[in-house]
Amino acid sequence: MSKPRYWLIVPAAGSGQRMKADCPKQYLRLDHQYILDITLSRLLDNADFSGCVVAIRADDPWWPETAASSNARIESCAGGAERADSVLSALEALASRADDDDWVLVHDAARPCLHPNDLERLLTQLQDHPVGGLLATPVADTLKLVASDSNQVETTIDRRHLWRALTPQMFRCGALRMALKAAIASGYPVTDEASAMEYAGNVPCIVEGRPDNIKITVPADLALAGFILSRL
Ligand code: CTP
Ligand code: MG
Repeated sequence: MSKPRYWLIVPAAGSGQRMKADCPKQYLRLDHQYILDITLSRLLDNADFSGCVVAIRADDPWWPETAASSNARIESCAGGAERADSVLSALEALASRADDDDWVLVHDAARPCLHPNDLERLLTQLQDHPVGGLLATPVADTLKLVASDSNQVETTIDRRHLWRALTPQMFRCGALRMALKAAIASGYPVTDEASAMEYAGNVPCIVEGRPDNIKITVPADLALAGFILSRL
């Protein structure tokens, strides 16, 4: 059997509501570069992908301004209403070329601080795994359960078994496509690829990653990402 290939999907069709900027956060700049371009370089410069698909919103006027849009190694597809729809759309775009057993890495456009060592560790540790998995980092803070619509602490949660799910997440193309389709069709809330795989009855594997692989989400994250990138 031939060795599985690796494909890359970067969902970049979000509107960045929590960032409250004039444009979606993947088009904000750090050191004169679009975040989306930084994110893509950190992956494409540090691993060997057979192809890369970026999911973009249909009415996105910023994409043509990026370096990625004129890079022959990168193609775009139309994103969807939710992140899972965007990832599924990109998987469909790859379906005619990628084998079901090939690996696909899915990485948020808004995570430009991925360290090459984390990428390398993910690829190495999961290369013979039947299902695949994700970078994750142990929760550092004490966690409180608070009753909805109140400020009353109900209890403290044991954090020893809790991990924050990061990206890249790495699964087999065929299995991930089936899992996303099934989860979306049933209305299951899919917030990452692993949750769709779990819903389909698979057991993803955790690979410990650096906590500074942050997802730029709120305005304060932008300066933090700039600082992290200056030190990587
Ligand atoms: N994303 C996507 N398609 C969507 C929603 C999100 O491709 N319909 C992408 C975003 O562009 C981002 C990644 O998924 O790179 C993670 O999502 P998130 O951090 O939630 O980004 P936004 O949805 O853009 O931000 P917000 O939730 O604050 O609106
Ligand atoms: Mg979102």
